[in-house]
Amino acid sequence: MTSPAITVPELAAMKSRGEKIVVLTAYDAIFAHTLDNAGVDVILVGDSLGMVIQGHETTLPTSLDDMVYHTRCVARGTQRALLLADLPFMTYPTPERAAENAARLIREGHAQMVKLEGGRNRADIVRFLVGQGIPVCGHLGLLPQSINHLGGYLVQGREDRAAQALLEDALLLQEAGAGLLVVECIPAALGDEIASALDIPVIGIGAGVGCDGQVLVLHDLLGLGEGKRPRFVKDFMAEAGDIPSAIRAYALAVRSGRFPAEEHSF
Ligand code: KIV
Repeated sequence: MTSPAITVPELAAMKSRGEKIVVLTAYDAIFAHTLDNAGVDVILVGDSLGMVIQGHETTLPTSLDDMVYHTRCVARGTQRALLLADLPFMTYPTPERAAENAARLIREGHAQMVKLEGGRNRADIVRFLVGQGIPVCGHLGLLPQSINHLGGYLVQGREDRAAQALLEDALLLQEAGAGLLVVECIPAALGDEIASALDIPVIGIGAGVGCDGQVLVLHDLLGLGEGKRPRFVKDFMAEAGDIPSAIRAYALAVRSGRFPAEEHSF
């Protein structure tokens, strides 16, 4: 018997039961099917596809058409996991444009929730989307769509004032109706503090083990890619030997609180 499909309320219930949420990216049907079978709870079609699949230097060139196409591919391979898709760079400058573009991800791509980057500056957009019945996941900390502004893939929220601002942003997104929040590359203590302060689940990537769940880019977990591996990444393929086992090992490590370890945290 297959287990029931994951919904937005179920994610909230998982947080209240203290169950860790397992999230991974996928960009095509066969990997989506493999993740789904391994019990991944949320499959994220990230705009990281611009880097991982298309070979760009940043996520900035990823288009909405690219996102819709890959989300539709992933939907065909997904049965149980909740399907989350990124609104790419400059597709949500106003609430109306955000709603039109999110509607494409949902109607054409079959996404069940959309993710957008930013804090208080996006609260009105989140409120508007949620008012239209569109579930929203926020994204705080290191914002890849703001890479030119940030000046590099650097840890965020290290200073007290910056940490306080991130906590306030998280509360504002929750208040605006976000149902999920991703926090990227922040000190583990701040990840823990944000997860404790919020009722909605907080999913970390380089944000410590205190978050309510974890997300990684699939290809990082499989040890693929060139150059220096970011500190928060673990190559699960090195020990597992095959792709389904590596994904199951990641899911188990997240659920048991063994990943991320201190060596993967800031
Ligand atoms: O685009 C993406 O894959 C993401 C994750 C890194 C969280 O946003």
